[in-house]
Amino acid sequence: MLERESRHEPGSRAAGRPGTGTRGDGGDDTPGSDVARQKDALRARVLEARRALTPEQRATAAEELRGHVLELAQELREGPVCAYLPVGAEPGSLALLDGLRAAGRSVLLPVVPPRPGPLDWAVYTGPDSLGPGPLGLREPTTPRLGPAALRTAVLVLVPALAADRSGRRLGRGGGYYDRTLGALPPGVPVVALLHDGELIDEVPADPHDRPVTGVVLPTPGTVATGNNGRG
Ligand SMILES: Nc1ncnc2c1ncn2[C@@H]1O[C@H](COP(=O)(O)OP(=O)(O)OP(=O)(O)O)[C@@H](O)[C@H]1O
Ligand SMILES: [Mg+2]
Repeated sequence: MLERESRHEPGSRAAGRPGTGTRGDGGDDTPGSDVARQKDALRARVLEARRALTPEQRATAAEELRGHVLELAQELREGPVCAYLPVGAEPGSLALLDGLRAAGRSVLLPVVPPRPGPLDWAVYTGPDSLGPGPLGLREPTTPRLGPAALRTAVLVLVPALAADRSGRRLGRGGGYYDRTLGALPPGVPVVALLHDGELIDEVPADPHDRPVTGVVLPTPGTVATGNNGRG
């Protein structure tokens, strides 16, 4: 139910680049545009709400998400799961990654490229396989597999600040996942992990935004999202 449909939009990478003005249904990612302002306002709101979560609330949410994702992963054919290392109050946990490994999955983690481009990937082989990365973040110390490793995944777990039922997703503003997910073969689920309350009525979106096929929240669990016609 969370399958990613084939809906690549030829030229979406080139069309509507910053500075091309307004668009009918798409928004405008020019810095200072309405959509950019709306995204920034929503990011600030969500990040503030996340900061207000107590350590107990974060731990409970992480445990619930772990259970839902492991259940979801049971339905999938054999193959690696692309996941991420949560930072701060971001939904997810190392326990989730370890749970996927214990269930027999290979887990790939993103490595941020030195210049804007698609994410690189490396295998997570346990907490000892993590070392210091840029911006004070941890990242895998295992060999880099290259961006094409994404294409081997049977599930991609993505970080998000919010999503809506059409599958529009708001990230932290780097555009990394938007530059990455277009290479994923159709039919592979792309699932955002959220805190309760972060599945909202409408996420402001630009044409470059890559949709998710589902979200997982601590309380309701897995929710399939529709197709907003992009991606
Ligand atoms: N496919 C792309 N090609 C070139 N630039 C892109 C592409 N996708 C996004 N960008 C750039 O990245 C910037 C940030 O995009 P956006 O605000 O959608 O980030 P995000 O979705 O929150 O981040 P992320 O994908 O890292 O979670 C955009 O202003 C845009 O210029
Ligand atoms: Mg985006």
